[in-house]
Amino acid sequence: MTTLARSARFAERTARMRASTIREMLKVTGRPEVISFAGGLPAPELFPTQRIGEIAVEVMRERGAAALQYSVTEGIPELREWVANWLTKRSGQSFSREDVIIVSGSQQGLDLLGKLFLDPGDHVALECPSYLGAIQAFDAYQARYLSVAIDEHGMLPDALEHALAHANPLPKFVYIVPNFQNPTGRLLAHDRREAIVRICERFDVPLIEDDAYAALHFDGIEHPPLISWNSSSPIIYSGTASKLMAPGLRVAWIATKDHDILDKLVLAKQGADLHASSLSQYVFAQYVNDDAAFIRHIESIRETYRKRRDAMVSALAREMPEGVTFNRPDGGMFLWCEIEGVDTADLLALASQSNVVFVPGVSFFAHRERTDGMRLNFSNSGEEKIAVGIERLAHAVRTIAGATR
Ligand SMILES: Cc1ncc(COP(=O)(O)O)c(C=O)c1O
Repeated sequence: MTTLARSARFAERTARMRASTIREMLKVTGRPEVISFAGGLPAPELFPTQRIGEIAVEVMRERGAAALQYSVTEGIPELREWVANWLTKRSGQSFSREDVIIVSGSQQGLDLLGKLFLDPGDHVALECPSYLGAIQAFDAYQARYLSVAIDEHGMLPDALEHALAHANPLPKFVYIVPNFQNPTGRLLAHDRREAIVRICERFDVPLIEDDAYAALHFDGIEHPPLISWNSSSPIIYSGTASKLMAPGLRVAWIATKDHDILDKLVLAKQGADLHASSLSQYVFAQYVNDDAAFIRHIESIRETYRKRRDAMVSALAREMPEGVTFNRPDGGMFLWCEIEGVDTADLLALASQSNVVFVPGVSFFAHRERTDGMRLNFSNSGEEKIAVGIERLAHAVRTIAGATR
């Protein structure tokens, strides 16, 4: 009897699966003495736990077994309707519930889009650096990457144009996080938005817009999503309840006017998990139904995160030695810090001994292009903790920079 070598048991695609440094690190950060700037976690004290409890009871009373039964793959009509209205308001384009599918977290949406578009070896164009979870999702479909340069105002249209003009073959899609990007916190400049839509249109490449952080702006300015512009090539919009309410619900959505894509997504989702949790969908739909309370809730998140951003930026300015640069994002949950001449994976090893952790930047580069960056999360720690954590981190930076120079 012949047996398969152990490595041959698994499909080839598993060879490309990289462990998420972030998920791995979350195991360490459970220790109370550790100050973590690593995870992308919202502030749990802002979850509307009491209201969610009340709503869950109301949903059981009003919907009963329907909220516990199998449901349609596309999502419950009232939630699709709310998403369509929310997006209509934000984009100025008219969306209907037929343009929307509810998914089990936008991470699932990315996986399903990978399933739809990517054959082994296909290219994806994305920001350099980009969201690690997207790279993980596309890696599983054996994607290859065209890294597109960004500056402090997001993706550079010229760099995208150049990448597409020289690509052979063209990428299957462009993936972008325009608002308060994960990992850099950067915001795509207004005039670049239409430019990017037009470039994708000219090359007829679908555009996946991951708008996870749209609502978390700190300066009162709403930024129009890329799907606001009409285009003859598909724009696929992804949004999530994770940063608006709570990630544990696993409620998110994809919207597009391209119903061929939507129909295929429905089939892909049927094969994955039939539908998103009915109970979570009813709870979220009921919560957002009270417009005034929902807006108050988002405003309190913005206010808290803005203060935490300020605490982190002033601690960095106070504590960090020369050679360290960082940004002051106008929203979201992260800022990006670069340390001249230092590999931040080495820095992490040292910093974790002082009980402070972050995500080394290399994880966010599809080709591991740069090692001197780090992502710092400010949403999940109070202001005092942030000050202590940055002090510890600066100490580690001084130690390692002294050792390497
Ligand atoms: C840009 C981006 N997209 C998607 C996700 C996944 O979110 P969800 O909880 O909706 O799966 C995250 C989570 O951090 C994110 O930062």
